[in-house]
Amino acid sequence: MIDAPDVHAPTVVDIRKLWTVFASSRGEQVVHRDLDLAIRRGEVLSLVGGSGTGKTVLLRQILGLEHPSRGDVTVLGQPAGRLSAHAAASVGMLFQHGALFSAFSVLDNIAFPLRELKLLPEALIRDAALVKLQMVGLGPAHANKSPADLSGGMIKRVALARALIMDPPLLLLDEPTAGLDPESADGFCTLLRTLHRELGLTVVMVTHDLDTLFDLSTRIAVLADQRVIVAGLPREVIAHPHPFIQQYFLGGRGRRAMEALHEDDVPDSQR
Ligand SMILES: Nc1ncnc2c1ncn2[C@@H]1O[C@H](COP(=O)(O)OP(=O)(O)OP(=O)(O)O)[C@@H](O)[C@H]1O
Ligand SMILES: [Mg+2]
Repeated sequence: MIDAPDVHAPTVVDIRKLWTVFASSRGEQVVHRDLDLAIRRGEVLSLVGGSGTGKTVLLRQILGLEHPSRGDVTVLGQPAGRLSAHAAASVGMLFQHGALFSAFSVLDNIAFPLRELKLLPEALIRDAALVKLQMVGLGPAHANKSPADLSGGMIKRVALARALIMDPPLLLLDEPTAGLDPESADGFCTLLRTLHRELGLTVVMVTHDLDTLFDLSTRIAVLADQRVIVAGLPREVIAHPHPFIQQYFLGGRGRRAMEALHEDDVPDSQR
């Protein structure tokens, strides 16, 4: 686990009284109801919840791609989506089904957000993309490859490099290790832990993978009943009596991950 951040760190994402309502064939679907959540600088906050509870929608609202029906989402002191100049400079996102552009090379995928800005000369854009490729643990030999020639783990790394191309202080990750084999998932967690520390990132992550959850989270927020029912340290969250939490964490796979968590709690002197 990553050490808990300073409780006095400034708030980077502030979500207040948020409602998300979609029109559906059966009337209205309320996805979020009076949802509150604050995320401080330096946190790795994980969002957990059943399928369809609105985790991806919430990340898209933080990014400013979608707007809530009611309530406020403030990111770095500004209303989400109205961040200075270019949102990508403030918030990077690794999308849940974030495929790369298949017709572009690895390097062109990473460079894409910078090229869109049309501010920098081509040589600088290429250099910046190569730096990011290195940063995610892939050498320059991969730069001209096509996404079709990459493994699942490498595709995630390239998508991460693209999310980081403009050095955003806030990174949103939607299921970063989904679909990866255990070894690639571990490698990706190690990379995220290193980048979080070295770049001083604030991270909001959605994950169903309990190993990733306990490996990286400084806090966990649980979405149920259309709102955040609890947000706290992992051990606080798993002690919460809500039936979703009990079933999610205390089922078979939850217990295994929890045993690992408890091993971390035992001081070395008592081992
Ligand atoms: N643009 C939209 N229009 C209508 N309904 C939508 C829209 N976007 C999302 N929804 C609905 O909102 C709910 C929440 O969707 P969301 O994708 O955020 O779920 P999730 O928590 O990310 O689920 P999963 O764990 O399966 O990824 C779903 O019922 C979805 O069908
Ligand atoms: Mg989702």
